[in-house]
Amino acid sequence: MTWDRIADRYIELAESRATSSFHHLTDFFHERLRPLSGKSVLDIGCGHGWLAHSLATQGAVASGVDGSESMIKQARLRYPDLAFHTADLVGGLGPAGAVSGYDAMVARFSLQCIAHLDRLLGDAAVALRPGGLFLVSMPHPAFYMRERVEDPVTKERYRKVTGYLEHETRILPDFGGHRYFHRPVSWYIQAFARHGMHLDDMREPPQQPDTVGDRKWEDWSSFEKWWSTIPVFLGLGFRKAATGG
Ligand SMILES: C[S@@+](CC[C@H](N)C(=O)[O-])C[C@H]1O[C@@H](n2cnc3c(N)ncnc32)[C@H](O)[C@@H]1O
Repeated sequence: MTWDRIADRYIELAESRATSSFHHLTDFFHERLRPLSGKSVLDIGCGHGWLAHSLATQGAVASGVDGSESMIKQARLRYPDLAFHTADLVGGLGPAGAVSGYDAMVARFSLQCIAHLDRLLGDAAVALRPGGLFLVSMPHPAFYMRERVEDPVTKERYRKVTGYLEHETRILPDFGGHRYFHRPVSWYIQAFARHGMHLDDMREPPQQPDTVGDRKWEDWSSFEKWWSTIPVFLGLGFRKAATGG
Protein backbone atom coordinates (compact mmCIF):
# COMPACT_ATOMS: atom_id res chain seq x y z
CA MET A 1 0.00 0.00 0.00
CA THR A 2 1.25 3.49 -0.90
CA TRP A 3 0.88 4.67 2.66
CA ASP A 4 3.40 2.07 3.87
CA ARG A 5 5.94 3.63 1.53
CA ILE A 6 5.29 7.20 2.65
CA ALA A 7 4.40 6.61 6.32
CA ASP A 8 7.81 7.74 7.67
CA ARG A 9 7.77 10.94 5.63
CA TYR A 10 4.17 11.70 6.67
CA ILE A 11 4.91 11.14 10.35
CA GLU A 12 8.07 13.24 10.20
CA LEU A 13 6.19 16.14 8.59
CA ALA A 14 3.20 15.79 10.90
CA GLU A 15 5.41 15.90 13.96
CA SER A 16 7.51 18.81 12.74
CA ARG A 17 4.43 20.92 11.96
CA ALA A 18 2.99 21.00 15.43
CA THR A 19 1.55 24.49 15.11
CA SER A 20 0.93 24.85 11.41
CA SER A 21 -2.04 24.36 9.13
CA PHE A 22 -1.51 20.63 9.62
CA HIS A 23 -3.55 21.05 12.76
CA HIS A 24 -6.42 22.90 11.14
CA LEU A 25 -9.72 21.53 12.41
CA THR A 26 -8.19 19.43 15.20
CA ASP A 27 -10.15 21.69 17.58
CA PHE A 28 -13.33 20.78 15.72
CA PHE A 29 -13.05 17.17 16.89
CA HIS A 30 -12.35 18.12 20.49
CA GLU A 31 -15.05 20.79 20.59
CA ARG A 32 -17.79 18.56 19.15
CA LEU A 33 -16.91 15.57 21.34
CA ARG A 34 -16.57 17.37 24.66
CA PRO A 35 -16.97 16.12 27.35
CA LEU A 36 -14.78 13.25 26.21
CA SER A 37 -14.61 11.43 29.49
CA GLY A 38 -15.67 7.80 29.02
CA LYS A 39 -16.72 8.22 25.38
CA SER A 40 -15.74 5.43 22.99
CA VAL A 41 -14.29 6.97 19.84
CA LEU A 42 -12.96 5.17 16.77
CA ASP A 43 -10.37 7.01 14.65
CA ILE A 44 -10.85 5.87 11.04
CA GLY A 45 -7.68 6.07 8.94
CA CYS A 46 -5.85 6.90 12.18
CA GLY A 47 -2.33 6.95 10.71
CA HIS A 48 0.23 6.94 13.52
CA GLY A 49 -2.51 7.39 16.10
CA TRP A 50 -1.87 10.92 17.37
CA LEU A 51 -5.52 12.07 17.20
CA ALA A 52 -6.78 8.95 19.00
CA HIS A 53 -4.12 9.64 21.61
CA SER A 54 -5.06 13.31 21.95
CA LEU A 55 -8.72 12.33 22.47
CA ALA A 56 -7.64 9.71 25.01
CA THR A 57 -5.72 12.32 27.00
CA GLN A 58 -9.10 14.07 27.51
CA GLY A 59 -10.67 10.88 28.84
CA ALA A 60 -11.97 9.16 25.69
CA VAL A 61 -11.70 5.41 25.24
CA ALA A 62 -10.08 5.84 21.85
CA SER A 63 -9.02 3.27 19.29
CA GLY A 64 -7.91 3.45 15.70
CA VAL A 65 -7.97 1.60 12.41
CA ASP A 66 -5.78 2.11 9.36
CA GLY A 67 -4.79 0.16 6.27
CA SER A 68 -1.07 0.81 6.54
CA GLU A 69 0.91 -1.73 8.58
CA SER A 70 3.70 0.84 8.96
CA MET A 71 1.33 3.45 10.35
CA ILE A 72 -0.25 0.98 12.76
CA LYS A 73 3.19 -0.24 13.89
CA GLN A 74 4.13 3.36 14.74
CA ALA A 75 0.77 3.97 16.47
CA ARG A 76 1.25 0.89 18.67
CA LEU A 77 4.83 1.87 19.50
CA ARG A 78 3.83 5.41 20.46
CA TYR A 79 0.59 4.65 22.29
CA PRO A 80 0.74 1.07 23.60
CA ASP A 81 -2.30 1.60 25.84
CA LEU A 82 -4.64 2.18 22.90
CA ALA A 83 -6.10 -0.47 20.57
CA PHE A 84 -5.13 -0.14 16.91
CA HIS A 85 -6.38 -2.39 14.11
CA THR A 86 -5.26 -2.91 10.54
CA ALA A 87 -7.91 -3.05 7.83
CA ASP A 88 -8.33 -1.98 4.24
CA LEU A 89 -11.29 0.31 4.80
CA VAL A 90 -12.52 -0.20 1.23
CA GLY A 91 -13.82 -3.52 2.59
CA GLY A 92 -15.38 -1.99 5.70
CA LEU A 93 -14.20 -1.50 9.27
CA GLY A 94 -12.66 -4.97 9.67
CA PRO A 95 -11.93 -5.93 13.31
CA ALA A 96 -12.81 -2.40 14.50
CA GLY A 97 -16.38 -3.08 13.35
CA ALA A 98 -16.72 -6.04 15.71
CA VAL A 99 -17.21 -3.55 18.55
CA SER A 100 -20.59 -1.89 18.56
CA GLY A 101 -22.02 1.13 20.33
CA TYR A 102 -19.23 3.62 19.58
CA ASP A 103 -20.23 7.08 20.81
CA ALA A 104 -18.36 8.71 17.95
CA MET A 105 -16.13 8.16 14.97
CA VAL A 106 -13.56 10.56 13.57
CA ALA A 107 -11.92 10.50 10.15
CA ARG A 108 -9.24 13.13 9.85
CA PHE A 109 -7.91 13.59 6.32
CA SER A 110 -8.52 9.95 5.48
CA LEU A 111 -11.82 9.56 3.60
CA GLN A 112 -10.48 11.31 0.49
CA CYS A 113 -7.69 8.69 0.35
CA ILE A 114 -10.11 5.73 0.26
CA ALA A 115 -11.29 4.59 -3.17
CA HIS A 116 -14.75 3.35 -2.16
CA LEU A 117 -16.61 4.34 0.98
CA ASP A 118 -19.87 2.42 0.80
CA ARG A 119 -18.85 -0.59 2.93
CA LEU A 120 -17.03 1.61 5.41
CA LEU A 121 -20.07 3.86 5.87
CA GLY A 122 -22.36 0.82 6.10
CA ASP A 123 -20.24 -0.71 8.88
CA ALA A 124 -19.89 2.65 10.62
CA ALA A 125 -23.67 3.12 10.66
CA VAL A 126 -24.07 -0.25 12.37
CA ALA A 127 -21.24 0.19 14.87
CA LEU A 128 -22.16 3.76 15.89
CA ARG A 129 -24.70 4.05 18.69
CA PRO A 130 -28.01 5.77 17.91
CA GLY A 131 -27.41 9.51 18.18
CA GLY A 132 -23.64 9.01 17.74
CA LEU A 133 -21.49 11.47 15.78
CA PHE A 134 -19.22 10.84 12.81
CA LEU A 135 -16.83 13.78 12.36
CA VAL A 136 -14.78 14.27 9.23
CA SER A 137 -12.11 16.67 8.10
CA MET A 138 -10.62 16.70 4.64
CA PRO A 139 -9.07 18.95 2.02
CA HIS A 140 -11.87 21.20 0.76
CA PRO A 141 -13.02 19.54 -2.51
CA ALA A 142 -13.64 22.91 -4.16
CA PHE A 143 -10.45 24.73 -3.30
CA TYR A 144 -7.64 22.43 -2.13
CA MET A 145 -4.70 22.21 -4.54
CA ARG A 146 -6.41 24.59 -6.94
CA GLU A 147 -3.83 26.75 -8.62
CA ARG A 148 -3.48 30.28 -7.24
CA VAL A 149 -3.72 32.86 -9.98
CA GLU A 150 -3.23 36.60 -10.12
CA ASP A 151 -4.77 38.40 -13.07
CA PRO A 152 -1.87 40.26 -14.74
CA VAL A 153 -4.08 43.26 -15.57
CA THR A 154 -6.56 43.64 -12.70
CA LYS A 155 -4.26 42.00 -10.10
CA GLU A 156 -7.32 40.17 -8.82
CA ARG A 157 -6.36 36.92 -7.10
CA TYR A 158 -8.35 33.70 -7.27
CA ARG A 159 -8.11 29.93 -7.18
CA LYS A 160 -8.60 28.22 -10.49
CA VAL A 161 -11.33 25.57 -10.21
CA THR A 162 -11.12 23.53 -13.39
CA GLY A 163 -13.69 20.90 -12.47
CA TYR A 164 -15.81 20.08 -9.46
CA LEU A 165 -18.85 17.84 -9.97
CA GLU A 166 -17.02 15.01 -11.74
CA HIS A 167 -15.36 12.40 -9.51
CA GLU A 168 -11.67 12.22 -10.26
CA THR A 169 -8.59 10.36 -9.06
CA ARG A 170 -5.57 12.59 -8.65
CA ILE A 171 -2.03 11.94 -7.54
CA LEU A 172 -1.05 14.47 -4.90
CA PRO A 173 2.67 15.12 -4.52
CA ASP A 174 2.47 15.49 -0.71
CA PHE A 175 4.67 13.19 1.41
CA GLY A 176 6.09 11.42 -1.64
CA GLY A 177 2.89 10.98 -3.65
CA HIS A 178 -0.45 9.41 -2.88
CA ARG A 179 -3.86 8.98 -4.46
CA TYR A 180 -6.64 11.43 -3.75
CA PHE A 181 -10.24 10.69 -4.69
CA HIS A 182 -12.03 13.91 -5.52
CA ARG A 183 -15.76 13.92 -4.81
CA PRO A 184 -17.98 16.96 -4.43
CA VAL A 185 -19.20 17.90 -0.94
CA SER A 186 -22.81 17.00 -1.80
CA TRP A 187 -21.69 13.46 -2.65
CA TYR A 188 -20.35 12.97 0.89
CA ILE A 189 -23.54 14.37 2.41
CA GLN A 190 -25.71 12.05 0.34
CA ALA A 191 -23.48 9.00 0.92
CA PHE A 192 -23.70 9.42 4.70
CA ALA A 193 -27.46 10.07 4.47
CA ARG A 194 -27.95 6.79 2.57
CA HIS A 195 -26.59 5.10 5.68
CA GLY A 196 -28.78 7.02 8.10
CA MET A 197 -26.15 9.59 9.15
CA HIS A 198 -27.28 13.14 8.51
CA LEU A 199 -25.37 16.40 8.27
CA ASP A 200 -25.21 18.10 11.64
CA ASP A 201 -22.29 20.51 11.22
CA MET A 202 -20.08 22.00 8.53
CA ARG A 203 -16.93 24.07 8.99
CA GLU A 204 -14.93 26.07 6.45
CA PRO A 205 -12.34 27.75 8.62
CA PRO A 206 -10.41 30.69 7.20
CA GLN A 207 -7.00 29.56 6.13
CA GLN A 208 -4.12 30.93 8.19
CA PRO A 209 -0.98 31.02 6.03
CA ASP A 210 2.02 29.37 7.71
CA THR A 211 4.04 32.48 6.85
CA VAL A 212 2.20 34.81 9.26
CA GLY A 213 3.62 33.35 12.45
CA ASP A 214 2.53 35.49 15.42
CA ARG A 215 1.76 38.61 13.38
CA LYS A 216 -1.70 40.14 13.87
CA TRP A 217 -4.15 40.17 10.93
CA GLU A 218 -3.59 43.94 10.45
CA ASP A 219 0.08 43.22 9.79
CA TRP A 220 -0.46 40.46 7.23
CA SER A 221 0.45 41.19 3.59
CA SER A 222 -2.38 41.63 1.09
CA PHE A 223 -1.49 38.20 -0.29
CA GLU A 224 -1.75 36.60 3.15
CA LYS A 225 -5.10 38.30 3.76
CA TRP A 226 -6.43 37.10 0.42
CA TRP A 227 -5.13 33.59 1.09
CA SER A 228 -7.09 33.42 4.33
CA THR A 229 -10.40 34.08 2.57
CA ILE A 230 -10.58 30.82 0.63
CA PRO A 231 -10.92 27.74 2.84
CA VAL A 232 -8.79 24.79 1.79
CA PHE A 233 -9.96 22.51 4.61
CA LEU A 234 -13.47 21.31 5.34
CA GLY A 235 -15.07 19.87 8.46
CA LEU A 236 -18.27 17.85 8.35
CA GLY A 237 -20.27 16.37 11.21
CA PHE A 238 -22.88 13.65 10.75
CA ARG A 239 -25.27 12.29 13.34
CA LYS A 240 -26.86 8.88 13.30
CA ALA A 241 -30.58 9.09 13.98
CA ALA A 242 -31.32 8.67 17.68
CA THR A 243 -33.76 5.85 16.96
CA GLY A 244 -33.43 3.23 14.22
CA GLY A 245 -31.61 4.20 10.98
C1 LIG B 1 -3.48 11.81 5.28
S1 LIG B 1 -3.30 10.37 6.24
C2 LIG B 1 -4.19 10.85 7.72
C3 LIG B 1 -3.76 10.08 8.92
C4 LIG B 1 -4.36 10.56 10.25
N1 LIG B 1 -5.80 10.51 10.25
C5 LIG B 1 -3.89 11.97 10.56
O1 LIG B 1 -4.74 12.86 10.67
O2 LIG B 1 -2.70 12.18 10.72
C6 LIG B 1 -4.41 9.22 5.47
C7 LIG B 1 -4.48 7.87 6.15
O3 LIG B 1 -5.47 7.08 5.49
C8 LIG B 1 -4.99 5.74 5.45
N2 LIG B 1 -5.63 5.04 4.33
C9 LIG B 1 -5.60 5.38 3.02
N3 LIG B 1 -6.30 4.49 2.29
C10 LIG B 1 -6.75 3.55 3.16
C11 LIG B 1 -7.52 2.36 3.01
N4 LIG B 1 -7.97 1.95 1.82
N5 LIG B 1 -7.80 1.65 4.12
C12 LIG B 1 -7.34 2.05 5.33
N6 LIG B 1 -6.62 3.17 5.54
C13 LIG B 1 -6.32 3.90 4.46
C14 LIG B 1 -3.50 5.89 5.26
O4 LIG B 1 -2.79 4.72 5.62
C15 LIG B 1 -3.18 7.11 6.11
O5 LIG B 1 -2.80 6.73 7.40
